[in-house]
Parts: sequence; C-alpha cells; structure tokens
Amino acid sequence: MTNQIITLTRHIIEEQRKHPEATGKFTDLMNDIAFAAKLISYHTNKAGLMGVLGEAGSVNVQGEFVKKLDVFANETMVYALDHGGHTCVMASEEEEDIIPIPENFPLGKYVCLFDPLDGSSNIDANVSVGTIFAIYTRTSPEGRPGILEDCLQTGVNQVCAGYVIYGSSTMMVYTTGNGVHGFTLDPSYGEFVLSHPNIRTPKKAKIYSVNESNFDYWDQGVKNYIHYVKQIDKETNRPLNSRYIGSMVSDVHRNLLYGGIFLYPASALAPNGKLRLTYEANPMAFIIEQAGGKASNGKKRIMELKPESLHQRVPLFMGSSDDVKIVEDFIQGKREN
Ligand code: AHG
Ligand code: MN
Ligand code: MN
Repeated sequence: MTNQIITLTRHIIEEQRKHPEATGKFTDLMNDIAFAAKLISYHTNKAGLMGVLGEAGSVNVQGEFVKKLDVFANETMVYALDHGGHTCVMASEEEEDIIPIPENFPLGKYVCLFDPLDGSSNIDANVSVGTIFAIYTRTSPEGRPGILEDCLQTGVNQVCAGYVIYGSSTMMVYTTGNGVHGFTLDPSYGEFVLSHPNIRTPKKAKIYSVNESNFDYWDQGVKNYIHYVKQIDKETNRPLNSRYIGSMVSDVHRNLLYGGIFLYPASALAPNGKLRLTYEANPMAFIIEQAGGKASNGKKRIMELKPESLHQRVPLFMGSSDDVKIVEDFIQGKREN
C-alpha cells in the first residue's frame, strides 16, 4: 500500500522491534514526550490570545495561561514523564538541580534531560520556538532514584535525542542512532506523522547563523572565519547567506534541511559561550551527526566532552560537515583566510 500514514508511535514501535531485548518502556517514554509536545504546541499557539482573553475576563483563562510559557513547558514535560515507570531522574534548563521521580511512582532505567522551551524570548513576537530532549540509560544501580552522575554522561551515550519545533507547523525530529526522522503534527487528528524520513544534511553550507553583534568580543579565529564566509568566491559558494532567528532549534532545523552552519562561539563576555552542553548542544549534536553533519566546540567533538555540571556552557559550531571542519581550522589557527 502506498501513501500509508506512519505515525510517530508506529515508527518507534517498528524501530524497537529490531531490538529483541526492548521492553516497551522506551516507546512509552517517547509517547509521553509526544503528548507533552502536543500540549506545549497548543499553548504556544494560544500565547497571543493570553492578553486578549485576560482583558475580556473570560472564564476560559486557565491558571496556566498566565504562567510564563517556559515555566509551563517545564511543568508539562516533568508531569508527562514522572509517572510512567520509565525514568529514574530528569534534568531541565528551568531547574537548578536534578529532578527526582516522586516516591509514589515507579522508577525506570531512562534519564531524560531537556530544554522545555528554547528561544522563549521570541515567543511574544510569534517567532518559532522549540523543545529539546536527550535520553540516556542510567549508569547508577537500578531500584534506587537516579543521581546527578546519570545526567552527566558524555553525549555519545545518548540513546535518543530529539527536538520539537513549534513553527508554521509543529514538528518532532528524533534519532535513536539510526538516522534522523521528522514528523509533522496533523492538527486535525492530533498525531505526529512521518513527513521527513531519513533526513540528510548537505555537506556544504549555504547559510551561516550567528549573533554577529558579538563580533568584537570574539577571538581572532572566529572573526577571521566570519570574514571568510562573507568573501566573494564562486567556487566555494561564498558569500554564505546570513540567517539568524535567535531560537537555536529553529536555526538548526532550517540549516539541517538547507545546509548551513550554526555558531555560538565563546566571547570575552561569555568565555564558555552561551548554550548548555547537556540539554542543548548534545542532543542537537547527536541529530546533526546522524544526518551526516558535525558538531564541535572548535577543538573537539561535542559528544565526547564530559559534562562536569548540569548547566555547563559550551562554545558551539554545528552543521554541514565541510564548514564545521573549516571553522575548526580557523579557531585552531591552522588558517587565517
Ligand atoms: P533559551 O530560550 O532556552 O534560553 O535559549 C535561547 C538560546 C538559543 O535558542 C539561541 O540560539 C540563543 O539563545 C540566542 O542567543 P542570543 O540572543 O545571544 O543571540
Ligand atoms: Mn535554549
Ligand atoms: Mn529554554
């Protein structure tokens, strides 16, 4: 049968069938993430109505509408994932410490780290935002609550990573190490359906994405690279096109599809860059690599860095593999032009 609809759940079940040891817990976890994503999608879409409904004094205004959306998104993720018996600990951008599973709920073997709402400063202007998540298997002994060390694993240990983008449509993109697959939420029946199977990112970038207002604060290598991407050279397809939304999920998603490099370098103001290793850089790096791209801190592969703390920042260069190699050469002083 052609034109068959493949839902996210079906896709995950079929992937899991390849692993005879699978218990179904991973499928449950992903279903809970998808449910949280639908709730967050619904509320981000309603964000513009908050003020309108509020002024009208409408009874439709629920408590959660007045909450900041990143707090709402965080609570939605936590409450969706804490009771299913698949997780033993979680961590979130919105919470300083690890998030334990409440005592009355069973424990599982998975560890989930997330940025509940990425790009949230854009929300009032109706610009795309996203949710990012990374899943690991616990390293601490089973039968007890998970601990900080479970959350501080190197990115290469990820068993799954994904993001949801709340844009002109809502999409979930995920990988379990077997390619990258994109699902679009059909709002009429509320299912994520496979729309972008096996996403591959172009080897060469057409786009560079960076907050160039930081230029004067950057190291010389990064300055040289940005100068390089703007030079005219037909053979290497330069100048690259500049595109910067300021929501990493949206910037990286666009670059993934079109070919591009996303940069958030270290600077004199932010010596380790801005973005966080555990729940921003690592999951996006896993996806980019699975799509054929590269993710680096300028010197090393992101996924091989050992996190020392939950909210550790990291300089980040990710996207089309040829271009990430070039920026590494500039940063390491191997070339100047
Ligand atoms: P968050 O909304 O989760 O705090 O993340 C915002 C991040 C990221 O999405 C984006 O790429 C970056 O901040 C933008 O930073 P600048 O405003 O410094 O460019
Ligand atoms: Mn973020
Ligand atoms: Mn966030």
